[in-house]
Formats: sequence, structure tokens, C-alpha cells
Amino acid sequence: MGGGLSFPDLIVEDFVLKPLCAADTTDLLTLFSDPEVTEFMDIPSLTDVDEARDIIDWAMSLARQGRGVRWGIRRNGHGSLIGTAGFNRIERDRGRLGEIAYDLARAEWGSGVMSRILPRIIDFGFQDLALRRLEAMVTAGNQRSSTLLGRHGFELEGRLRDYGFWKGRYWDQLIYSRLAD
Ligand SMILES: CC(C)(COP(=O)(O)OP(=O)(O)OC[C@H]1O[C@@H](n2cnc3c(N)ncnc32)[C@H](O)[C@@H]1OP(=O)(O)O)[C@@H](O)C(=O)NCCC(=O)NCCS
Repeated sequence: MGGGLSFPDLIVEDFVLKPLCAADTTDLLTLFSDPEVTEFMDIPSLTDVDEARDIIDWAMSLARQGRGVRWGIRRNGHGSLIGTAGFNRIERDRGRLGEIAYDLARAEWGSGVMSRILPRIIDFGFQDLALRRLEAMVTAGNQRSSTLLGRHGFELEGRLRDYGFWKGRYWDQLIYSRLAD
């Protein structure tokens, strides 16, 4: 791994999280082909396996360089991918911060799955990576994501107006953070 970082598998109850790899490509296509899942994400719904491959390549490259990690989530480590979670960015030189990101298949929403997994990701950031600050960018209107972060001790710091541009328009981003105790 780059940056002296290694990213192990994580286990949370019966969920097994493994860093995304090429074998996850078709499962990721299924996950991100659902417009409800991608509604507030910075990608359009996927229609082609090459698009999923690009995301996997991005995630693997991040992990190799120690600049981030995205774990794929499966029940008991097999079956279909029910979501992903991780760090889109890890900065340990000019600050000690990590940007958290996560998603779940639509069928998994509303039963506390991410609320059980997120504490493990937070713990990995503060303990294993020794980060000082965890942050998350949420597209304005993504109420489920804002509620999840609020439940786990993240504070809203502000609204970044027209911060993102994807799917043909600008999007405000809400920035949340939580500092190490
Ligand atoms: C963001 C996302 C992961 C949130 O999923 P979620 O299921 O709402 O989140 P949680 O795991 O916190 O579950 C909360 C729900 O489970 C219920 N729940 C059941 N057991 C629970 C428990 N032990 N702890 C917390 N909530 C529990 C809550 O009451 C809540 O239900 P409600 O939606 O009916 O109010 C999901 O909406 C998603 O994947 N969205 C698409 C991708 C995306 O936008 N990602 C974020 C980019 S910033």
C-alpha cells in the first residue's frame, strides 16, 4: 500500500467489508444502476460495465497510493454487494483529515445498516489512521445522509453554494465534520 497505509477487511456484526477489487465490478454496476441510489451522488446511474470498472479502478488506485479506500459490504462476506463505504480522501501530511462516503442498495435503506457500519469507519479513521478530522460532503436535499451523520456526531459546518457540477447542473454541498475527542 502507498503512504505506509494498509486497508484490512473490516467486520461489523455479520457484515464483511473488503476493499473494492476487480471481482466486484458487475455487483457495483447493479448497485449504481439504481437511479434512487445515485440521485444525490456525483455520478449518473450506470448503464455500462465499463463505467463500473472505472470506479473500481479509481478505488483501487486510491488504496494503492494510500489516498483513500472504498470497502464493498456483503452479508457474511458473500452474496451481492449491499453497499460501499470508505474514505474518498485521506490527508495526513498537511492536516490529518478524512472524507467519508457511503451508499447502500435501496432495499437496505431504513433498517439501520449504515448506522451500524459507520461507527467502524469512524473508528478506523480516528484510531487506525490517527486522523483529527472526519468530514463528509452531502448534496443538499439528501436528508437520509444528513440524518445519518447527525446521529453519529457530525456537525453541519456550512453550505457550499454551487460547489459541484454534474448531471448538467450545479449542486450545493453541505459540509459536515466530526473531530477526534
Ligand atoms: C445515505 C444512506 C446510506 C442512508 O441509509 P439509511 O438506511 O437511511 O441509514 P441508517 O443506516 O442510518 O438507517 C436509518 C433508518 O433505519 C432505522 N433503524 C433501524 N434500526 C436502526 C439502528 N439500530 N440505528 C439507526 N437506525 C435504525 C431508522 O429508524 C431509520 O429509519 P427511517 O429511514 O424509516 O427513518 C442511504 O440513503 C443511501 O445509500 N443513499 C444513496 C447513496 C447516498 O446518497 N450516499 C450518501 C452520499 S453523501
